Amino acid sequence: MIDFDLSDEHKLLEQTVREWGGREVTPKIGELDRAHKFDPKILPQMADLGLLGICVPTEYGGAGMDYIALGCASEELEYVDTSLRVIMSVHVGLNSLSILSWGTEDQKQRYLVPQAQGTQIATFGLTEPSAGSDARGIQSVAIKKGDRYVLSGEKMWISLADVADNFLVIAWSDLEKKKQKDPSGLSAFLVERKFKGFSSGTLKHKWGILAGNTGFFKMDEVEVPAENLLGREGEGFKIAMFALDQGRFTVAAGATGLIRACRDASVAYAKERKTFGVEIGQHQLVKEMIAQMESDYQASRLLWLRSGWLKNLGRRNTKETGLAKWFSTVASERAAGDAVQVHGANGYSDEYPVGRFYRNCKGAVIYEGTREIHKIMQADYLLGYRTDRPTRCELPPYKVSVAAR
Ligand code: CAA
Repeated sequence: MIDFDLSDEHKLLEQTVREWGGREVTPKIGELDRAHKFDPKILPQMADLGLLGICVPTEYGGAGMDYIALGCASEELEYVDTSLRVIMSVHVGLNSLSILSWGTEDQKQRYLVPQAQGTQIATFGLTEPSAGSDARGIQSVAIKKGDRYVLSGEKMWISLADVADNFLVIAWSDLEKKKQKDPSGLSAFLVERKFKGFSSGTLKHKWGILAGNTGFFKMDEVEVPAENLLGREGEGFKIAMFALDQGRFTVAAGATGLIRACRDASVAYAKERKTFGVEIGQHQLVKEMIAQMESDYQASRLLWLRSGWLKNLGRRNTKETGLAKWFSTVASERAAGDAVQVHGANGYSDEYPVGRFYRNCKGAVIYEGTREIHKIMQADYLLGYRTDRPTRCELPPYKVSVAAR
């Protein structure tokens, strides 16, 4: 039987993250955002809450919760600020879950365990200055020399670029296949900041997610030991797409939290502000915007819950996760625009949080697969141009899932 109730554990998690975010981050987020400042003190606090290894099994230092828990945490974090959810997306979704699924036991011990405990922070590097949507268009190369790969190239729009210790990097290990853009020539590598030839920087001129760190990194003949190849040589594209299946899930759940934040702020303001002698919530056109936020919130939530449920069962969910990501990020843009509208001129001032929501929501309509990429993917599934074939490594199903509730 399908169960729409969250477990007591999930509810406790939601409450814990909500209380922590409200107490520790909400009071200072406006100031951090205004100052374009990432606060590194947030990371140990998230680690203490178990969030940085939330759905990593306990034997690898994680909290051992399921994938629904990852969604719950992402939703609550983005309710406070998108920058918090982004940490979950890159550290847990894109990086750690890829090591959990594709890594050797040695890689899990060296990287997954410290990442799940939060003593090392991780991110992901696929996008480059000249290749975003066209993931096969990247230029970074990895040349095998004896027992090492020598990596050269530049990655762009990397969340936590100046913060992370560890980077999951996609590069061409087969230069003949690079010429043909044959994705079986791409490989994935676990790269450490401290490797010689690695450098990073922060992007200064973005206009959203200002309390988050976004940047680039460069690899100037970085020597990576062969044992840091993730998966097999030639599996890099699959690993990148697999990683995005998990990252997009956190983006979908996060956007759902942003819609809820827009809804709650709008409801509060509509009951506080009066025009023409009544609370503005009495006006039908304001009601319409608030009702739309509620419908977008509920639909988005159901979509990410279904995707998390499939993950718990160990079933492929690329299509469902893509749909959740597409729908909820587009809906969050609508909700944030309407939240500013409900607030009128006050929405245009940073005295209220809705302007920040409006700036923050747009990134997710672009990163981890643009709205257009996701539309095309959904159509391609229906038209039979795209099917999901099983890969060598899948996300491990959650062991004590539904039956334990
Ligand atoms: N899991 C496992 N394997 C997968 C997969 C998945 N989700 N998706 C595809 N594959 C496999 C396929 O099965 C295929 O292998 P076989 O031939 O052996 O079956 C292989 O990968 C190639 O797949 P496709 O033919 O589907 O690849 P494509 O070139 O048609 O993909 C695309 C096109 C879907 C548009 C893809 O390029 C894409 O998703 N682009 C968007 C990339 C994106 O989201 N980038 C943002 C990254 S975020 C970042 O880097 C910044 C940061 O801060 C983190």
